[in-house]
Amino acid sequence: MKKRVILAGLAASALAVGLVACAPAADSGSGGGSAAGEGGLIGVAMPTKSSERWIQDGDALKAQLEDAGYTVDLQYAEDDIPTQVNQIENMVTKGAVALIVASIDGTTLTNVLGDAASADIPVIAYDRLLRDTDAVSYYATFDNFLVGQQQAWSVLNGLGLTELDGTEIAGAPAGPFNIELFAGSLDDNNAFFFFNGAMDVLQPYIDKGTLVVKSGQTAIEQVATLRWDGETAQSRMEDILTSQYSDGTKVNAVLSPYDGISRGIISALTDAGYAVGTDFPIISGQDAELDSVKAINNGEQYATIFKDTRDLAKKAVEMTVAVINGDTPDVNNTTDYDNGVKVVPSFLLEPVTVVKSNITSVLIDSGYWTDAEING
Ligand code: BGC
Repeated sequence: MKKRVILAGLAASALAVGLVACAPAADSGSGGGSAAGEGGLIGVAMPTKSSERWIQDGDALKAQLEDAGYTVDLQYAEDDIPTQVNQIENMVTKGAVALIVASIDGTTLTNVLGDAASADIPVIAYDRLLRDTDAVSYYATFDNFLVGQQQAWSVLNGLGLTELDGTEIAGAPAGPFNIELFAGSLDDNNAFFFFNGAMDVLQPYIDKGTLVVKSGQTAIEQVATLRWDGETAQSRMEDILTSQYSDGTKVNAVLSPYDGISRGIISALTDAGYAVGTDFPIISGQDAELDSVKAINNGEQYATIFKDTRDLAKKAVEMTVAVINGDTPDVNNTTDYDNGVKVVPSFLLEPVTVVKSNITSVLIDSGYWTDAEING
């Protein structure tokens, strides 16, 4: 009995090796009943599991693609570029009918995506633009410039200068407020959109002296954080506190582009003696990660930008299925996302600013996090 199973297994794998162009059968996790897997294999390449959002993106994509009748090869590359290249190469070899890719470094996949194009496999860029390639058909993302504006408005709101939508508050304090700036990873196209959006809002306040960047570091190259790494941000914040604020002056606000970076900044501030309720700065964020939502509740972080990964997955699945079927997907932006080779037709979803007062209505009522997860 046992032997037969092994032989059958060997025969099945021999068949699989011989028929690489065929989609593998549906795995046991598919929920699409008899239709599961019939649409073929879709490769989903995600950057890392070290940030919650990509796990949620991957889970949502897998579930929705399986419901639509596809088999899914979902891979995470732990922020290692050669690993991601290999994973995508494997998806091409296995005969994927489409690829959905959230890159680590949007410029490093040109060759492997060229292989996908040669095999007529359509590629959807997911959240992050794929650069320097014509092998990308469509792009599903959020309005990234608006994300940056919202981050800056949240900082201004925390300082009492504007509403969360940027409307100026009458009789707002004159400042000056000390602010330090952080940006994301320079190999991620989104980092530029976030930072440009934020500076579009903050620069006029810096110009009129309401905001002061004591470190003088205002160029994206000076404030960037490779791989969006929280520890890297923490040590830059520590350096800034030592070099600029050891004379007793206080940093009043920190522009942070991502919750993981915000947590590094919070650690540096806490270690330096800043305390909630007395002198803790206003800090922005992005992604509504659970620990950061808790940090908003306890006053360490002021705001985050929520981008519902379920909606993004839905949009990417719609696009992918349309392309596979030879239909034209719905897009709402055909001007802003030039990847160096072509302007990629895009669908931009709308991000939402979350502060303490709307955690329940935005995050709990929508089922993104439960009350127990946040408050339990
Ligand atoms: C995403 C953000 C995320 C960041 C770090 C960006 O490309 O758009 O949502 O915070 O990467 O993972």
